[in-house]
Order: sequence, then structure tokens, then C-alpha cells
Amino acid sequence: MAFFNDSHAVIQSGIANSPNRAPFKVTLAGQGFYIVTNPQDVAQVYKNTVTLSFHVFIEDLMLSCGTSPEVVRKMTTTPPPYLPDSKESGLNPQKKSLIGLAVDFHHIQLLPGPKSQVGPITDTFLGYIHNLLQWTSLLRDDKMSSSITSDNKIHTSLYQFCGKVLVEAGTKVYWGEKLWNMTPDMLQTFEGLDKTMWKILFRYPERFSKDAIQARDGIVDLLTEYYALPKETRSDAAWFTQSLEAESRAIGLTEREMASAILIIYFVVNGNTYKFCFWALCHILSDPPLLSSIRSEVLAESNEHEPSMYHLLNKCPLLDSVLCEVLRIYTSSASMRFIDEDTVIGGKNLRKGNRIMLPYRALHENPEIYGSDSLDFKAGRFLKENGMRRNNSYRPFGGGATLCAGRFVAMKEVLRFIGTALWLYDIELETGVGGVKQSFPRVENKKPTFGVMAAFGDDDLRISIKQIL
Ligand code: HEM
Repeated sequence: MAFFNDSHAVIQSGIANSPNRAPFKVTLAGQGFYIVTNPQDVAQVYKNTVTLSFHVFIEDLMLSCGTSPEVVRKMTTTPPPYLPDSKESGLNPQKKSLIGLAVDFHHIQLLPGPKSQVGPITDTFLGYIHNLLQWTSLLRDDKMSSSITSDNKIHTSLYQFCGKVLVEAGTKVYWGEKLWNMTPDMLQTFEGLDKTMWKILFRYPERFSKDAIQARDGIVDLLTEYYALPKETRSDAAWFTQSLEAESRAIGLTEREMASAILIIYFVVNGNTYKFCFWALCHILSDPPLLSSIRSEVLAESNEHEPSMYHLLNKCPLLDSVLCEVLRIYTSSASMRFIDEDTVIGGKNLRKGNRIMLPYRALHENPEIYGSDSLDFKAGRFLKENGMRRNNSYRPFGGGATLCAGRFVAMKEVLRFIGTALWLYDIELETGVGGVKQSFPRVENKKPTFGVMAAFGDDDLRISIKQIL
């Protein structure tokens, strides 16, 4: 409990929110942490791959997710302890440890480069989002179809709408159709994990984490069942998933061991984009002039089907600004580094054996960059090309060696979702009796996140969705 309370307090309470402060040290659960908030110092930390490392945090994450120390040892051994009868896959010519290889696989899967697989995964993602947004697909969801009123409107929750499309797309893109269909309500299963995962990752005491452990074990059970299916029935899984499975089997991991090791990936792939779309649509739908301007931008292209990705990426500056601002205001995470050798940062000697924490909120609230209204949401803040998004104080996807590999794919997912949703539908906020407006959802900023923050409690917006014919 101490580690969670103390470290989270550092990220959220403003202790760290002084951008000009030199690195300072706090002790959390017996471990020394240097908190670095000055944007130039943060950039220095990200650049240093010689005396600072992060592997220890990946190992910690895996242990927290229930992977046994023995499996973590197998996965961190260089060269990997391949079974004597395992065939050479050709996927690991440098004989990296499985954890090192998984990082390379992420990069091949998600980033441009010589062996890149980003084209196929982006197409599959966008195809799923397009299909899942169609009226007939929405109606396949019992809750949505039973909510239709005589004026042919679906009445639903914005959270549910974003989750239904984006979590289903992410799960199917990475694991193929089979995993999603293994339980009647995979979305609910994911939400159970997403809401409680912080307890697992921050090692909250077990007696207060029964919900989190149950959610984690439920998904590990499903993934175990999935990996036990004949491979031919899962050939629609992403290149990453298939390659990691081949390498994991070659070092003798069982289906259950693979399932618990990949849980964190399941969370990373699905946990952020739907909340990103949720907050963006909360702001867009709550502000009629903003909605109208963004609709005009998105619909400006004369295209019969839906706005092209080129149009969404290059011709929609206001939507782009809103998305940048959502990432600035609603991301709250912290990059971590382990200090392998004494290292000078910001003129201060940071001692070997301690850890470094770089909390993003301190950067994103920096009044020197964002002005005296840095805490407010301003839809047009990023409209001016003044270098704000390339500033050292803008780090929604982290930085350096751990910079989010999925950032380009994530932005395209979000653009496809919002672009197609506005193209196909009139989406309106519902009002209460006498036209009473709904309250704007509060943000859950008291619990740690690994990217985009959730809405507080059950805060949400009720929306109606009607086809534009
Ligand atoms: C709005 C959406 C997203 C946000 C805000 C986000 C944010 C982040 C952050 C903060 C990190 C850690 C950075 C650090 O420690 O320095 C990260 C890592 C990562 N993210 Fe994302 N992410 C998003 C979407 C995605 C998606 C959709 C995928 C995959 C399809 C993805 C894949 C990854 C991977 C693989 C890493 C680990 C990078 C590495 O260690 O090589 N992310 N992300």
C-alpha cells in the first residue's frame, strides 16, 4: 500500500508539478526514486540508454500480472533457453532474450522500417473499426438493438459505444476472431480488468484486490484456452501474436504461461484508444459550435463512402487540435528508468541502484509552455503551428527507448472511429426532463493509469445515434 500511496501522490498531487525544479529524491516502500520534472532534464533522461535502463520494470510488470519468477527468468535469459528439439524459426537471428525480442516484435509490428508489418495491421484495424461502426453491426449488440426507439435512434452510453468498437477491434486484430467469441461478453470481461488493473500493477494488497485478481485470472483463463486451440483456427492473429507464440513455445512455455505473459499486451493494445475517443467525443458533443466545425471539416471531402485517412490526417486541423489537447489533459502516466551507473541529470548526481520517475502531468500542466490556462481544455490550443506538440513538455506517449510503439496506429484508429462515426451518424447528447443537460463526466485522477485516464466512477454521457440517410 505504501508504494502505491506514495508514488501516486507524487504523480497526482502537485508535489512534482514544478517544471523548473531540479531532480529530487523520495523513498517509496524502501526504494529510492528521483522525480524529474524539468522538461530539459526529462529529455536528458530519455536520451540516456547507456547508464539508464528499463528492463527491470518490464520484469516487475510481468510478475505483477501473475507470471512466475521461473517463467520471467526463462524470458530474460540470453540466449533464450531453446528446447533441444525446437526448430530454428529464423525470427531471432541475434539470439536476444524473449523479452528483448518482444520489444523488437512490437517495433516491427507497429512502426515503419525495413521488415515492418505496420501496413497490414493498420489496414486490419481500420477495416474492423469501419465494419463495427456500421448500423447492422451496432444492432448485433443486444443492449443497443433493444434501445431503439420509434424514431429509429439507438440510445446508449458513450463509454459503451467507444469500448464496443475499439476493444473488439483491438482484440480481433491481435488475436483474431476466436478470442473475442470465447465468452458471451468479452467487452465486460475487459472492462473488469481495465477498471482494476492499477491494483495489480501497483501491487495493492491482495485483500483489497480480489476484483482485480478475479478479472486478471478470468482473462488468463480465456487466453490459455485460446492458445490451446489448433493453430490453423487462429491464423488470423497478428504477426506479433503468432511470432511471439512460436518463440515462447520454443523455450517450452505452456499455454497458461504464455497467457499470463501476454496479459499486459492485451491491456496495452486495448486500454487507451477507447478512452481517448470517449474524452474527445465528450468535448465535441458538449460544444455545439465545436461539433459543427469539426463535422464541416470531416465531411468536406467529396467522397461517397467515408472520409479518407489522408483527409483526416491532413485536412482536419481543428479535430487534430482537439485530439492533441485531449492527450495533453487526459493522459497521466510516468516513464520509469533504473539507474545502472551514477548519472548526472540537471546538474545533480543521481546514484546507482535508485530509480527515476518522469510524471507526465507535471509536463503537461507546465504554464511556461501552455500559459496560465494550462489546466483548462482549449479545443483550439494546438491550432497554431508553434512547436507545442514537439515540445519537451508534451509527452503523452512517453519517450526515448520506451516511447509508445503504437502511437501512429492509435492516432489512425481514433481518426477512423471519430471520422466514420460523424460521417454515418447524427450523435447527440440526450437531455433529461425539461431539457436538463447532463453533467460533464469527471476524470478519475486519484487512481494511477498507464495512459489515458478513465471517467470517475460511473460518470458517462448518454447519447442517441441516428443514421444519416
Ligand atoms: C491513445 C492511445 C495510447 C496512449 C496514450 C499510449 C501511451 C503509452 C505510454 C505512456 C507508454 C509507455 C511509454 C514510456 O514508458 O515511456 C506506451 C507504451 C507502449 N504502447 Fe502505447 N499508448 C496508446 C496506444 C497504444 C496502442 C493502440 C498500442 C498497440 C496497438 C500501443 C502499444 C504500446 C507498446 C507496444 C508500448 C511499449 C513500448 C516499448 O516498450 O517498446 N499503445 N504507450
